[in-house]
Amino acid sequence: MSSKKQVLAINSKKTATRKDSHIALALLSQNSLIDARFYYEPMLAAHPNKNDEWPISIGNRKMKYPIWISSMTGGTTKTNEINNRLAIAAAKFGLGMGVGSARIALENKEKINDFNLRPILGNQTPFYLNFGIAQIEKMIAAKSLNAINKLVEKLKADGVIIHVNPLQEWMQPEGDFIKHAPLQTIETFLQQVKLPLIVKEVGQGFGYQSMKKLLQLPLTAIEFAANGGTNFSKLELLRNKTKAKYLKPFEQVGHSAEEMVAFNNQLIKELGNKRKCNTIIISGGIKNFLDGYYLIQKSTANAMFGMASEILKHAKESQAALDEFIQYQIEGILLARTFLTIKEN
Ligand SMILES: Cc1cc2nc3c(=O)[nH]c(=O)nc-3n(C[C@H](O)[C@H](O)[C@H](O)COP(=O)(O)O)c2cc1C
Repeated sequence: MSSKKQVLAINSKKTATRKDSHIALALLSQNSLIDARFYYEPMLAAHPNKNDEWPISIGNRKMKYPIWISSMTGGTTKTNEINNRLAIAAAKFGLGMGVGSARIALENKEKINDFNLRPILGNQTPFYLNFGIAQIEKMIAAKSLNAINKLVEKLKADGVIIHVNPLQEWMQPEGDFIKHAPLQTIETFLQQVKLPLIVKEVGQGFGYQSMKKLLQLPLTAIEFAANGGTNFSKLELLRNKTKAKYLKPFEQVGHSAEEMVAFNNQLIKELGNKRKCNTIIISGGIKNFLDGYYLIQKSTANAMFGMASEILKHAKESQAALDEFIQYQIEGILLARTFLTIKEN
């Protein structure tokens, strides 16, 4: 048989096998759920190329895709392995990342190297160190904020993320007492530390008035860490049975990422040129690329989406599992951008 005939014979066999499998699978493919957030428009575009990009900037860095690896961990052998995997993936796919609280590196110099991800990340990847508001409050009182400058410089990080977590601290058995309004602490930090700053919550988001104040500060970004995903008040109550018995209703307090996008859109109109922060990281309960795509498209700000627990699930498994997950999140947003528009409400 000529090679052309051989190819035709193979193709015809493949088609026959596919047709048989369609018969077998069609009855299992009855769908009754519709994602009502989108219009699906199959008529208007060709397939996206797999290497298409969706560039976005944060501060003076550029990312290839609007996906942020939210702050999680660092400082122990196990967590360092996870951070290394996250950093490899962030660099490979052109994402940005925050590490989990680096307080341990301020307290113990031997731990500094645990956060030394810049050699893995390369020069271009956005990389932020994370501290809690209670820690910053204490450092202001002790006039020791310069240690943060030094750490950021040593680790060649781009800046700092401060997590604002009064409910978590209250629920936490060994939690800190917050003496000042976090807004005041953040303002002092901005005056004394001239570093790019991102402010986030840890699973309950920010209400309208808090967002309004934050947006008027010269922040690099606000990360929502909204309620609907990982919730650190809930986590602490799991560690504290007595408090859980009485304070559990607080778990349900806060704002969803969708509600916060609406606040932010409204505040962009309301604040006009009083607004100094232009970038938001929409996080808290983002389970996949469609949740992220929907909220980015709904937002009128420079917006990316952030994920923690979904990424962690894969990072714990292996580098290959993490890379595969992220590869498909990217593929997902590119397909969504090509064929889906959001329904405004
Ligand atoms: C294992 C783990 C550790 C976390 N540690 C921190 C932390 O150290 N600092 C912080 O600001 N947020 C921390 N977070 C919270 C997330 O950054 C945040 O709530 C974000 O909204 C994304 O959460 P989700 O995608 O899991 O819902 C952590 C989340 C997880 C899952």
